[in-house]
Amino acid sequence: MNKLIGQPVDRIDGMLKVTGGANYAADFPEARLAHAVLVTSTVASGTIASIDTGRAQAMPGVLLVMTWQNAMRLPNAGRPPISPPAVRRLTLLQDNVVRYSNEPVAVVVADTLEHATDAAQHVSVTYAATPAPLAILDFARAKAQAHTPPGMSERPIDSQRGNVEAGMHEGAVRIAAVYTTPTQFHNPMEPHATMARWDGPALTLYDATQGVTNDRTAVAAVFGIPADTIRVISPFIGGGFGCKGSSWSHVSLCAMAAKQTGRPVRLALTRPQMFGPVGSRPHTEQHLSIAARTDGTLTGVRHDTLSQTSTFEDWTEMSGLVTRMMYASPNLSTSHRVVPLNVGTPTFMRAPGETTGSFALESAMDELAWRLKMDPVALRLKNYAEVEPQDGKPWSSKALRECYAAGAQRFGWSRRVNAPRAMREGNTLIGLGMAGATYPANRSEAAAIARILPDGTAMVASGTQDIGTGTYTVMTQVAADALGFAPDHIRFALGDSTLPRAPVSGGSQSAASVSPAVQAAARAARDKLIALAIADPASPVHGAAPGDVTVTDGWVVSNSAPSRRDPAAAIIARAGGKPIEAQASEKPGAERQQYAFHSFGAVFAEVHVDAELGTLRVARIVGAYDVGQVLNEKTARSQLMGGMVWGVGTALHEDALLDTRMGRFVNGNLAEYHVPVNADIGDLDVLFVGEPDLRFNPLGVRGIGEIGITGVPAAIANAVYHATGVRVRDLPITLDKVMLPRHTLA
Ligand code: MOS
Repeated sequence: MNKLIGQPVDRIDGMLKVTGGANYAADFPEARLAHAVLVTSTVASGTIASIDTGRAQAMPGVLLVMTWQNAMRLPNAGRPPISPPAVRRLTLLQDNVVRYSNEPVAVVVADTLEHATDAAQHVSVTYAATPAPLAILDFARAKAQAHTPPGMSERPIDSQRGNVEAGMHEGAVRIAAVYTTPTQFHNPMEPHATMARWDGPALTLYDATQGVTNDRTAVAAVFGIPADTIRVISPFIGGGFGCKGSSWSHVSLCAMAAKQTGRPVRLALTRPQMFGPVGSRPHTEQHLSIAARTDGTLTGVRHDTLSQTSTFEDWTEMSGLVTRMMYASPNLSTSHRVVPLNVGTPTFMRAPGETTGSFALESAMDELAWRLKMDPVALRLKNYAEVEPQDGKPWSSKALRECYAAGAQRFGWSRRVNAPRAMREGNTLIGLGMAGATYPANRSEAAAIARILPDGTAMVASGTQDIGTGTYTVMTQVAADALGFAPDHIRFALGDSTLPRAPVSGGSQSAASVSPAVQAAARAARDKLIALAIADPASPVHGAAPGDVTVTDGWVVSNSAPSRRDPAAAIIARAGGKPIEAQASEKPGAERQQYAFHSFGAVFAEVHVDAELGTLRVARIVGAYDVGQVLNEKTARSQLMGGMVWGVGTALHEDALLDTRMGRFVNGNLAEYHVPVNADIGDLDVLFVGEPDLRFNPLGVRGIGEIGITGVPAAIANAVYHATGVRVRDLPITLDKVMLPRHTLA
């Protein structure tokens, strides 16, 4: 019975967090702890000619200055035979090659953080730098050498359906445009941090990671040691967003430093070190062409994406994925090519692919709507994908039509005058724009354990993570309903690689993957408790029919005679005092072959633009989402609002600027790399539409972590066009682009 699932329960870890009681990776106390600081490269390409470590080594408290000359030698030169993204191509001081600016070149370990920081500034590195253009830093020039990367996550790099050339000729109305998105850096509140301790051959890592198991696998591969000699602990994470989904160089460097000094070592990245060695969303250049009949029916869509990667690993921003599935065009092709530059390898960033791709696609759909003089919602309804258009599978559940309707209604879309610069209040141009949102519903195998303890409380655990999203809270709710216990009688544990295995908290999959395992384990433990009570002659429920008893607030109760009831602690005490335990592992099954699984949404934005100054504000956003069963109305709303906020940042603020001479991101700090603050955010309104997706998993839960950012940048760009008549196709939308437009009325 669902008493708690869906309820807006407060975060059970909220009090710990606001009182400083939650230990993050860099907070764990440790005897004899030493502190490591990274020294990073100041050139983008070349070799280290010499490193003078003498001065640093002689400074107070310094234990080790680790460079490529004295770092422990790793098997396979630190390049384990496991392909990225499972194990990234790391920088582990095994050679003197520099491949990007801000790449680790030394690790200074000292007795205090201050001593290590001071000494790190006195490591003097001389480079034999490769001059440009041999150092590849200019995307515009390098794109001529773009190449085809291998597929990402089992998805083909290119796709075709129908005959796109014929489709392009068939439609009487055509648009073709190029959209660009900048390099973005994740910048969770908590920078990456690791603490490593060796006890003989056993390694313990306290790490800020989205995947304790993946982290363990990656570090085991780097050191060539069995995974079961490594334990990764990560109970609290101050935001992940994808950058903590990989085990980057500093994690293994920290373990190397601990090994070489014989001390536990903590290594936390500084904020400027977040701009390079731990991934980014890559710059994209997206070429989109759409053809349609005069009634709006799409006849052909072509979406070709170029994205930046590093010189040593192909990482692909799959911007075309959203175009493959969003609309029912019979003819379509997508392609992805990568442009290697001397920068750090990009990685997953919240809705990787869908964020950049939906900006281009949903902007292009808006451009098409203007050309057709059609309402943008009507154009989308005209091309509604009743089935997954690529493979023809039915959707497990899809309420996008209802999202458009509910969002439009709440937003007041009918007030929109369908002409640019037509709505204004004094000097303020008002623009209303909309876009579709989507993200695939992912699910992987996960396991959990439930234990009813002699004191009548329960411990439920899974080796999953809470990256700030509310996993502790929602899994407690699921366990409470399945056990029949009050939530304050349940302790949910996670973030430890010794717990039953669960997938990385990426791809918005944790809730959908872990909740079925938690529910199954908790139900199995509850059933054992009931069986014990019924079999026990001393129990008030002895001999009751199993179908007649339930567990409520930790009591086994007869439904037909509620006065017959027995508390869990008494049942366990009479049975010998041993905990009741059950494990479960749940995974997706044959439904994968039958259905397509996606979440959907409709985003509506209102912008206010100063007619003379071009200054821009997003006054309000309404998002209506079909994400299946919501586990916790409060944490779900917060996550979707967080996605919207990032959508505002993507639309208006974020822009990592690469110096094409030196290869440095010149605004690599939070003073100059702008993210939205409270004052930048207007009203955010989240609506939940749709129903539990019971074809997807037993709880009907789809992920909500990433869909919230998708669609928002396009909705804002479309609103800016409505307000001003200026089409900005290059993010971020800054006032210069509005005042000195490159693209005006179509
Ligand atoms: Mo998400 S970018 O898969 O953490």
